[in-house]
Amino acid sequence: MDDETGKSPPAYALPPAEAPHEPLEGYDPGVPSAEAARAYYEVMRTRRTVRMFSDRPVPRETIEWVIRAAGTAPSGAHKQPWRFIAVSDPAMKAKIRAAAEEEEREFYGGRASERWLDDLRPFGTNPDKRFLEIAPWLVVVFALRKTDGGGQVYYLNESVGIATGMLLSAAHHAGLATLTHTPSPMKFLGEVLGRPEHERAFLLIPMGYPTEDCVVPVLERKPLNEIGVFVE
Ligand SMILES: Cc1cc2nc3c(=O)[nH]c(=O)nc-3n(C[C@H](O)[C@H](O)[C@H](O)COP(=O)(O)O)c2cc1C
Repeated sequence: MDDETGKSPPAYALPPAEAPHEPLEGYDPGVPSAEAARAYYEVMRTRRTVRMFSDRPVPRETIEWVIRAAGTAPSGAHKQPWRFIAVSDPAMKAKIRAAAEEEEREFYGGRASERWLDDLRPFGTNPDKRFLEIAPWLVVVFALRKTDGGGQVYYLNESVGIATGMLLSAAHHAGLATLTHTPSPMKFLGEVLGRPEHERAFLLIPMGYPTEDCVVPVLERKPLNEIGVFVE
């Protein structure tokens, strides 16, 4: 705010007539911000990566809303360089599981460094990926190296990472569990799903309900004073 009206001048190079603008909607300055931020934190702190999925169905409509929420993410020059492939077809899930387990057997059997395997030990993970067939949905996130029309994209990993974060948050908000899975390497996903060359597999995310007896690894999250630095 730097003039007498209390409004900042717009930081745009072009007048609105040349780069069409519209009034901002959806921001409520009356919301008690700390309370709202804390309430959201209380929701998000219960998000955990789940590896024990139930086969309880989830309606397609839910997944559609979750993907729409991910699609509201910011992206470099608004290129929206992402695609979310939602798979519930049992035959396709079986194919994905078979190909993922093949990669994972090689990963655990020698491709991964000893240090990497050591770091994974607390999670008790192994090449058995049966959850890929049990979870009602697999959402495969692809990063678009070019737009569908062959145009340039910017900050690809940053953009798709943010959109994926929003996808995970939206799923959690809807009561669904997720697993950010990275069967390494993930090239097989593009092949199995018949995706075009400009789409690079980014993450494989089983989505659904946890089993009733689901357990998760004990872990601690860094406290605020380790992750936040305030320069005031
Ligand atoms: C980029 C990325 C890749 C991951 N890959 C795997 C994976 O392949 N298999 C797996 O079981 N968990 C995977 N995870 C989950 C992490 O192990 C998990 O997020 C971490 O242990 C923290 O647990 P939390 O998500 O419950 O807070 C991955 C997470 C991220 C962000």
